[in-house]
This record gives sequence, C-alpha cells and structure tokens, in this order.
Amino acid sequence: MIADAFLWVLNRTPSLRRAMWRMFFDLLASRFRNIGWWTLMNYGYADLDASVPPFELLPCDEDERYPIALYRHVALLAPVVGRDVLEVGSGRGGGASYVARYLKPARLVGVDLSGKAVMFSNEQHRVGNLLFRQADAEQLPFPDASFDSVINVESSFCYPSIERFFAEVKRVLRPGGHLHYTDLRLADEMADWRAAIAGSGLEKVVERDITANVVEALRRDSARRRAGGRRIAPAPLSGIADVFTGVDGTRIPSLLASGEMVYFSFLLRKPAG
Ligand SMILES: C[S@@+](CC[C@H](N)C(=O)[O-])C[C@H]1O[C@@H](n2cnc3c(N)ncnc32)[C@H](O)[C@@H]1O
Repeated sequence: MIADAFLWVLNRTPSLRRAMWRMFFDLLASRFRNIGWWTLMNYGYADLDASVPPFELLPCDEDERYPIALYRHVALLAPVVGRDVLEVGSGRGGGASYVARYLKPARLVGVDLSGKAVMFSNEQHRVGNLLFRQADAEQLPFPDASFDSVINVESSFCYPSIERFFAEVKRVLRPGGHLHYTDLRLADEMADWRAAIAGSGLEKVVERDITANVVEALRRDSARRRAGGRRIAPAPLSGIADVFTGVDGTRIPSLLASGEMVYFSFLLRKPAG
C-alpha cells in the first residue's frame, strides 16, 4: 500500500522520477564497479526458431549472449554499418560495445543519465569508434540532424516524458534516419504508448511483439542471472537481486508470461522531406 502510494507520487512527479532512477543506476554503477562480467542490464532476447543457428560471438562476449541478442535484434532492423549512431540509455555500455565492434558504425556515442554508469562504460569498453557521455534523454546535448541512427533499449520506461524523448530523437536524427527502439510496458499502458509513438512525428516502419522471445531468453538465462545476483547481493538480500535480474518465477518474467506485461520492438523513421 505504501509502496503503491509512493509509486503513484513518483509517476506524477517528473523531477522526482528522474532523480530516483539516476540515484538507482548511479548506486549500481558505483557499488558494482569492477564487475566486468555484468555490462548489460536488459532482459534479453532468444530466437524461437530452433533451425536458426546461434549468431557468432567472441568467447569474451558469450556470457551475455541473451542481452546482447536484444541489441542485435533491434540494431539489425535497419543497417547501421558506416553510420553515425547515438545510443540513449546506454547503461553499463555492453550493448553499445557489441554494436560498435560487430556491426561497424562509423561512430557510436552512448549517453546515460547516470554519470557513474558513464564513467564505468568509458573505463570498461575501450573501442576506437565508441565514446560515452552523461546526458538526459529529454535534453540531448547534440546539434540538430547530427546522427543517422538512434538506439534505445529498455530505458524509455524510466523517462518522465516519453514525448520529450521522441522530440529530441527527431531533432538529432538526419532526415530518413532511424530510431531502433525496444522496451516493455504493462499491457494496459500499450494504448498510451502507441499514441505517443503515433504523435512523435516519426514514421513506424516495423512493430514487433517480442514478448515470447524475452520470456524464453529469461528462462534460458535464469541460472546466470541468479548466480550474478548472488555476487552483487548475498543472502538475505538475494531475493531482491533475483527480482531485479529477472530470475525465472519472479515478478517480471511472470507478468510477461501471463501477458500482463508486454515487450515490443519498433523501427521508426524521421521523414525524409
Ligand atoms: C534497464 S537499464 C538498460 C541499460 C542498457 N540499455 C542495457 O540494455 O543494458 C536503463 C538505463 O536507462 C538509463 N536512464 C534512465 N533514465 C534516463 C534518462 N532520463 N536519460 C538517459 N538515460 C536514462 C538508466 O540510467 C539505465 O542505465
């Protein structure tokens, strides 16, 4: 009840909501600085077609295959090779590092609200065409029309104004540029989400319901998630870590499996003319 009241206030107070998420992700980044094995924070993606061979990864990336697969899924919705790419909400930088190393954009800039996550990312991922800096998704510190592609993975649920985020994406994209976008919502928030996308001024090129892919990724990745949670929060806090990391049987996988929560990916395009 108190938690519900707190969430009600949080959802209606944009500055508080932003500050809370920044504190939370700053805390994660500073408390768990030297955990190189944990560089992605999304729920992952699994191909459901058993006849498709697993995509190739270097041994050093294999551990985070499923969260990387979510980046691969959304990044490949349109070509990024040779392009100027911005990632908004880059977290601990593992997704941007994958895109920069494997999918060969000309350059990739990752921005995140958490200054500590940005510091971690710049220390952890030393890749020639990749740089991280602190910024708010609703106030991007870049000139108009400065990127060909924007990537956004499981981050927009934190933003106080999704409309301001879309307006900023539209502003920094070049005409014809793409937003590669994926996130989760409660099923009863879906209509508002679609309305915000429709009102963004970006054209919808692709919309996919990937809920089943995320549920399957969480199932296959559950043991690693549980073990990782034990490393960051030993008993008696391990239950909280299980919820946060999405271990099988906890709240998020259960809501996704029941359809009360959904996970979608979109490719949106800034009109060319
Ligand atoms: C669940 S994590 C996902 C991180 C990363 N995309 C990944 O998949 O590993 C959400 C990220 O969004 C960032 N974030 C939240 N609000 C933000 C905002 N207003 N502007 C930029 N980043 C934000 C958080 O700091 C956090 O790093």
